[in-house]
Amino acid sequence: MILIMIESQWGSGMDKIIIEGGRRLKGSVEISGSKNASLPCLFATLLTDEPCTLNNVPELNDIDTTCKLLEHLGKKVERKDHSIQVTSRKPLKTEAPYELVKRMRASVLVLGPLLARFGKASCSMPGGCAIGVRPINIHLSSFQALGAETEFSQGMVRLKSNGLKGKKIVLDFPSVGATENALMACVLAKGQTILENVAKEPEIEDCAKFLNAMGAEIKGAGTSKIVVQGKDFLHGATHQVIPDRIETATYLIASAATKGEVELSHTYPKHLKVIINHLIKAGIKIQIKEDKLNREYATIFCKVQKAIKPVYIKTGPYPKFPTDVQAQWMSLMSLADGNSLIQETIFENRFVHAAELGRMGAKIKIKGNQAKVSGSGRLSGAEVMVSDLRAGAALVIAALAAKGKSVIQRVYHLDRGYEKLEQKLSRLGARIYRVHG
Ligand code: UD1
Repeated sequence: MILIMIESQWGSGMDKIIIEGGRRLKGSVEISGSKNASLPCLFATLLTDEPCTLNNVPELNDIDTTCKLLEHLGKKVERKDHSIQVTSRKPLKTEAPYELVKRMRASVLVLGPLLARFGKASCSMPGGCAIGVRPINIHLSSFQALGAETEFSQGMVRLKSNGLKGKKIVLDFPSVGATENALMACVLAKGQTILENVAKEPEIEDCAKFLNAMGAEIKGAGTSKIVVQGKDFLHGATHQVIPDRIETATYLIASAATKGEVELSHTYPKHLKVIINHLIKAGIKIQIKEDKLNREYATIFCKVQKAIKPVYIKTGPYPKFPTDVQAQWMSLMSLADGNSLIQETIFENRFVHAAELGRMGAKIKIKGNQAKVSGSGRLSGAEVMVSDLRAGAALVIAALAAKGKSVIQRVYHLDRGYEKLEQKLSRLGARIYRVHG
């Protein structure tokens, strides 16, 4: 077998990642822009024909899919490094096809802006995925509350309205996507909308900041109640996307798992309080230093001197422990000195990685939404398969810490959400290669 050191981050669906584990990560890494903040901001450009520029957008497959979808709808998308400029090239279409929606569930975020601007929008219904059923009922009931009619036919959901009207809407659950979709719909609705029980994730606040720069009047984003004064139109704007808190958490845990010493720059520790607190409880030394050149950013230093202590986690909506870091935490706990418990409350099937970690020697028992992890302090390399993006991150972390060689299959999931993963880890001293399939 020929091992090829990765030159480009893009590979085919059959690519594998090979990791020769057991090396402590050491050095520094710059954190990329947030995937989950970039996506709604890109969809928000549908709310205007004027040019919009987004900076600090990561180079990822999900971003490519979003750009393709915007182009399909009639936008012109120009990318240079981490900046994306979106302009209107022709009258916009209002239908997102199955071909693109099946690649990325977040494509449903076309619905809010298109409905608000054109009084109609349709989108192929996203199916379930490896981590759960993931319905869009909360998105749709918000649109209905604003005055839209919904219709389902041939796998599509079609929305129409004779002009959205602001209202008080209480979400059944603080869904991230439903909050973003409702927000992008009501910025152009008539009058005031009050959204309650909304998601408080930093990505919502970032999207609202961009919408306000476009002329929207949104107050309270980042809290559970958002008040929006509807406008007749929005204009173009430029926005700097926040750093990726999930990528930061992944590198912090990778560093801890390998007993490493890593510094992560260009990140916002304020978005990572719960992760940092749990790492400290696990015995990891964390230091934070403000960036002198750009005071918005900070560098987080992470060092492990002793055995990792077992620490219980329960996932929940922000500011609780993020479900997107649960899998990585499971890898860390498999390496801890003792038993721990993980409770998943957001997705009903988000423990698929446990069986793959088992192939590397982890001892995990699943019962309902709980995972009991018997930490043994060590793992051994194995051939494993990625089921979803964060499960992939967990397997990479386990492989970095494990003794011997691991082969990780189905890495296309990782390419959706981790920019230059192999390059960044190589820079930290990992032996990691991609084999193109
Ligand atoms: C977003 C994130 C994803 C993260 C998740 C939870 C993006 C692109 N993705 O996904 O990485 O794991 O938040 O933090 O930002 N639900 C319903 N009905 C709905 C909507 C959601 O029942 O209409 C349920 C889902 O099935 C799930 C839970 O609510 O069980 C949370 O989902 P949601 O917050 O909507 O996640 P996403 O926005 O899809």
